[in-house]
Order: sequence, then structure tokens, then C-alpha cells
Amino acid sequence: MQVLVAGGTGFIGTHLCTELAERGHEVTALSRNPTAEDADEFPDEVDLSTGDVSAYDSIVDAVADHDAIVNLVALSPLYQPPGGTDHETVHLGGTENLVRAAEEHGVDRFLQLSALGADPDGPTAYIRTKGRAESIVREAALSWTIVRPAVVFGDGGEFLSFAKRLTTPYLTGLPGGGKTRFQPIWVGDFVPILADALEDSHVGRTYEIGGPQVVTLADATELVYEADGRPVTILPIPMALTKFGLIAVDPLPFVPFGTDQARSLEFDNTVAENDVQAFGVEPADLLTLGAYLGVRDGTPRERSRPLA
Ligand SMILES: NC(=O)c1ccc[n+]([C@@H]2O[C@H](COP(=O)([O-])OP(=O)(O)OC[C@H]3O[C@@H](n4cnc5c(N)ncnc54)[C@H](OP(=O)(O)O)[C@@H]3O)[C@@H](O)[C@H]2O)c1
Repeated sequence: MQVLVAGGTGFIGTHLCTELAERGHEVTALSRNPTAEDADEFPDEVDLSTGDVSAYDSIVDAVADHDAIVNLVALSPLYQPPGGTDHETVHLGGTENLVRAAEEHGVDRFLQLSALGADPDGPTAYIRTKGRAESIVREAALSWTIVRPAVVFGDGGEFLSFAKRLTTPYLTGLPGGGKTRFQPIWVGDFVPILADALEDSHVGRTYEIGGPQVVTLADATELVYEADGRPVTILPIPMALTKFGLIAVDPLPFVPFGTDQARSLEFDNTVAENDVQAFGVEPADLLTLGAYLGVRDGTPRERSRPLA
């Protein structure tokens, strides 16, 4: 199959393009600024293509030559979008353009990477536009599949670096004491599932995919610092105070967190039912965050004190 991976040079995309090429597919990674370093990340069989999903004319030729599209393009849920771009343009406009180009050029298979909690009426711009983008895909005259992953970790991912950027070693504050719950999945476990999702048996399905454990942001922060040999004690910062502070700095372009990002820390990011079994995978087979970091068996430490 000839597969175009929009966002193929990103964290998940680099792994996915490699996996698909190793499975014998002809793969093109599309992004706005593919570089020589991007090319070095891939096997020779992966081609690079330049295009901006928010500009139809820049992607239509690349789409036309393929049998399947994987849409990985998105803005980060953890950081403010860089200036000049927004969730509507990238998540909605980008999905509309890819779907339209696929419909007009007979590219029938469409795999959309969404996110846990995607909901047109959700609490953040990221979640709302992810939800509306899902609707565009479901209403398309295409053989679609939607995958909603929990947070994905691994070398080059931003979840663990985010936990560090938000905190300091030894003694740190976290909004709400870091009680928000996540269900992280390792990119090495997730990507084969994503590649399998292109098979015809998954057409018309929406899957929620999570890791083997639920951890709080405080757990993840402790694990990250423990891996560095630097213990950390977490102090709760009231959510209201966090939001008040972020309202003040929201307009400043050099501050990467805003009120929308703080709001995302008020909601758990875990699956109701883990659909990994639809791909022949048992949750217990997946790598835990702690095991990836090489600390303990990956089990969050039992707390001697409440989080908040
Ligand atoms: N990572 C996670 O924990 C996680 C969790 C849940 C869901 N997801 C979803 O998984 C997908 C991939 O995430 P990721 O972490 O791999 O993202 P990422 O590392 O930020 O990669 C994004 C990719 O999209 C490209 N891109 C950005 N804007 C573009 C545009 N306008 N037109 C064309 N290409 C564009 C980027 O390259 P250029 O900047 O060079 O264009 C890059 O290749 C996203 O849909 C994300 O919402 C990720």
C-alpha cells in the first residue's frame, strides 16, 4: 500500500513511517519543513514531501498518489500554539483539506489520530477541535478509522520533558498537587497498533488506546526525577491560583503555558476501556513508564502523605 503520513516527521510519525516501511508499504512523510536530519531518521524507502495541511494547494499533489492517508498533524496540548497558528486552522482546516483531497483523488483509506477525550463541547481548544475533526472524518465518503491515544512517551516525546519543565528537582509545586491521572503508553508499543489500524478489519471503528497503568502527574514527576537520581517532594498549588497566575501571563508569547493548558490539567486523561485488545495486545504486556525510565518495576511509589 502507498501511505502518506501527514506529520510523518514528528515524534509518533517518525516511528510510524519506519514501522510501515518495514512492513513493506511505500511511505511518504509529509510536513512543512522536512530536513536532511529528518531524512536520516528514516530507512531509505521513506520519501519526504513538503506541504502545509492548512493550505489545500500545497498538499493535493502529494495526497493524489496514495492509497491511504494517516493524519498525525496537530498542535501540542501541553504548550501554547506558536504565534500565527491556532487549533481551528490546524486540527479542523487541516483535517478538512486532507479529507477533501482524499475524496477528490480516490484515496479511500483514512486513519485519523485523535486524542483521548476528543469532544466538540470539551473544555479546551485542543479537545474541542480534535472532536470536531473526528466528525469531519466520520462524515467523509472514506473508509476511515479513528484512534484516540492516551499520552504517548518515549525518546523524543514531550510528556516527560513537560513534567520536568513544569517542575524543579527536590522541592516543587504542581497545580492541584499533580493529581491529574494519565495512562501513558510507550511509543514502541503504540506504533505497531497504529500500523495495524490501517488494516481493513478496523474500518469504521474508533479506538481508545492507553498504557498498562494509571499514574498521576505527581507520580510521573517523581519517576522522572528518580531516574535522574534526584528525589522530589511535591507541594500542591491550588488550581485557582495556577489559573490566576496564567491569566496574567497568557498574552506573553515567550510563556509556553496558558490558561487552556492549565485547564487540561483539571481533567483525567485515562481510557474507559482499553481497546488494545482489539489489536491482540494485553495491557499487561505493555511497557510501564517506570520500567522505561529504569526505576523500580515501574510501580508508582506508595505515598506517605496525601497529594493535596
Ligand atoms: N504525543 C502524544 O503524547 C499524543 C497523545 C495523544 C494524541 N497525540 C496525537 O498524535 C499526533 C502526533 O503527535 P506527535 O506527538 O507525534 O506530534 P509532533 O511530534 O508535534 O509532530 C507533529 C508533526 O506534524 C507536522 N506539522 C505540524 N503542523 C503542520 C502543518 N500545518 N502541515 C503539515 N505538517 C505539520 C510537524 O512537522 P513540521 O512542524 O515540520 O511541519 C510534525 O511532523 C497528533 O495528532 C497528536 O494530537 C499525541
